[in-house]
Amino acid sequence: MRKIDIFDTTLRDGEQSAGVNLNALEKLEIAKQLERLGVDIMEAGFPASSKGDFQAVKTIAETVKDSSVTGLARANKKDIDAAWDALKNSAEPRLHVFLATSPIHMTYKLKKTPDEVLESAVEAVKYAKQKFSIVQWSAEDATRSDKWFLVKIITEVIKAGASVINIPDTVGYRSPEEYGGIFAFLRENVPNIDKVKLSAHCHDDLGMAAANSLAAIEHGATQVEGAINGIGERAGNTALEEVAVALHIRNDHYQAQTRLKLNEIKKTSQLISKLTGMVVPGNKAVVGENAFAHESGIHQDGVLKEASTYEIITPELIGLSSNRLVLGKHSGRHAVKNKIEDLGFNLSEDKINEVFEAFKALTDKKKEVTDDDLFDILTEKQTETKDVEKYELKSVQLQYGTNNIQTATVAVTAPDGSYKEEAATGAGSVEAIYNTIERIVEQPLELVDYQIKSIGGGRDALAEVYVKAVYNGVESGGRGSAQDVLEASAKAYLNAVNRAVVNGSRTKQKVNL
Ligand code: KIV
Ligand code: ZN
Repeated sequence: MRKIDIFDTTLRDGEQSAGVNLNALEKLEIAKQLERLGVDIMEAGFPASSKGDFQAVKTIAETVKDSSVTGLARANKKDIDAAWDALKNSAEPRLHVFLATSPIHMTYKLKKTPDEVLESAVEAVKYAKQKFSIVQWSAEDATRSDKWFLVKIITEVIKAGASVINIPDTVGYRSPEEYGGIFAFLRENVPNIDKVKLSAHCHDDLGMAAANSLAAIEHGATQVEGAINGIGERAGNTALEEVAVALHIRNDHYQAQTRLKLNEIKKTSQLISKLTGMVVPGNKAVVGENAFAHESGIHQDGVLKEASTYEIITPELIGLSSNRLVLGKHSGRHAVKNKIEDLGFNLSEDKINEVFEAFKALTDKKKEVTDDDLFDILTEKQTETKDVEKYELKSVQLQYGTNNIQTATVAVTAPDGSYKEEAATGAGSVEAIYNTIERIVEQPLELVDYQIKSIGGGRDALAEVYVKAVYNGVESGGRGSAQDVLEASAKAYLNAVNRAVVNGSRTKQKVNL
């Protein structure tokens, strides 16, 4: 059985998804869950791109012990030095350095000749190797590169010290047969290829990322890169959960396995969806809401007689809980603490007290508190940044009538600590609230996207709202949950404003790939 290393880039390529801006605590929380999931390597960010990313990579590198932590760098000393400063205290300092090799990228983006690219790649790997014990080199846009140029440059970077070679299908262009063929070709023609691990990195522009990654495995790749829920640039990266479950279910065919704890998949998917605001489509393979739902009578009948008639994956395999209703008004701190641990969170006593208070407040409004409700409270408490001055919602009031113009009154505390209250009208209740908030924050604020979903079922379920908004020229995501949809909407909009303030300073320093 071949062992396939899982290289997770949710926090780097995944975070490059449009509108996703994770703060340092959110990144750390995701990193800890990826460690529990058992990823071999996690790419925590791109340290040279911003101070925020640098700090997040450093914190993760110093916290995570059971996965190897890496960071991205372009092929220059400044990026490599920044990555070293962020990663030097990790258990196994590992660098991911890349340079484009396709004629399109070399001519138009890098404005370099192939010889100059080869020289820069070799120089960067040699420099990195003086610091890092493991250096991975990626040929960006490898799949649109000249194959013989790939052979030449890969041969040289291996001589320079690279021990992992990544072949990205950067623009999601190749078919599985073609992509697998590139791995077969390189294995046949790069003389020193047996000295390195080959890695697959696919994007989903043509919906073939998972199939391409599996084809690469069939042709010799022993590392697969991707993101949970398939998030990432444009159409996203390979969904790692799909590859891992495919290798498990079709073990007879692939004869390969990963060390992922598959029963941590659902929890990881939920956490990432919640913190990034990227809702998982209901029909998404493995982690979608409907992945185990049998709707037609014939299918239901078959499953009741024998589950394997229509079910190749069991919900238990990915750790899908049946959302048992266990906690309520009379549950004590001890029961809540046990549940917190069951859900995989490791909190200080102070944090447990905070969560318990929020839990108690919820039981005043809601009879039964589900795992999902508690999960919501936990992620909010674990990831709220206390050191950032922000707008905080104090109250929302609404005058609503089917034949009236809706009027909202919103009160907040502002970043300077002052209390502010405003009122405004709108054609709908949410619009009235958002017009009021725009008055409060005194800067142009535009709503780009608004989504709402319920956490669990039942009439008293919590509402969770995700928005994308542009505040003062900076686009940012925001989320908010509450039992009332309008309160959740107000919280989400203010959250987007707060994040835009943080992201605004971050964006100014951000370096494009
Ligand atoms: O898709 C890509 O080519 C990348 C590189 C930075 C490895 O993400
Ligand atoms: Zn990529």
